[in-house]
Amino acid sequence: MVLKNSIILSCLVWLTVSCQESAQQQDHFTKQTPAEQGASLYSMHCGQCHGEDGQLGASGAKNLSTSQLSDAQIVQIIKNGKGAMPAMKALLESDENINLVVSHLKGLRR
Ligand code: HEC
Repeated sequence: MVLKNSIILSCLVWLTVSCQESAQQQDHFTKQTPAEQGASLYSMHCGQCHGEDGQLGASGAKNLSTSQLSDAQIVQIIKNGKGAMPAMKALLESDENINLVVSHLKGLRR
């Protein structure tokens, strides 16, 4: 009986600890500023073609640091793709994320 109780107890302790860990990870993400979220979304989904500074030009990608497009035009291209650039709507998941990426991208302009 004593053994059974201590097994249950250690399961409870383990559960509590693992819940706290995932809550902390969640916290870490939600504590990112919008600018940081935009930057990580950009490096995850756009960096491989456009480069961290927007100037890489892989697969014929346009230089984003000299791009003059309006916000609405950028949103259209992100959502629907253009030429060799695939549509990014599904990857970015929400309009909110798209807007974060747009503001990051405009920060790359010279
Ligand atoms: C697979 C490579 C690839 C990825 C990934 C990619 N792009 Fe592109 N991007 C391109 C190419 C190629 C073009 C040029 C399209 C054309 O004009 O034919 C382009 C063009 C653009 C343009 C238009 C620039 C201009 O002035 O005409 C914008 C804005 C843009 N990309 C933003 C993004 C953003 C934001 C992401 C991430 C969400 C992204 N791209 C991901 C390849 C990529």
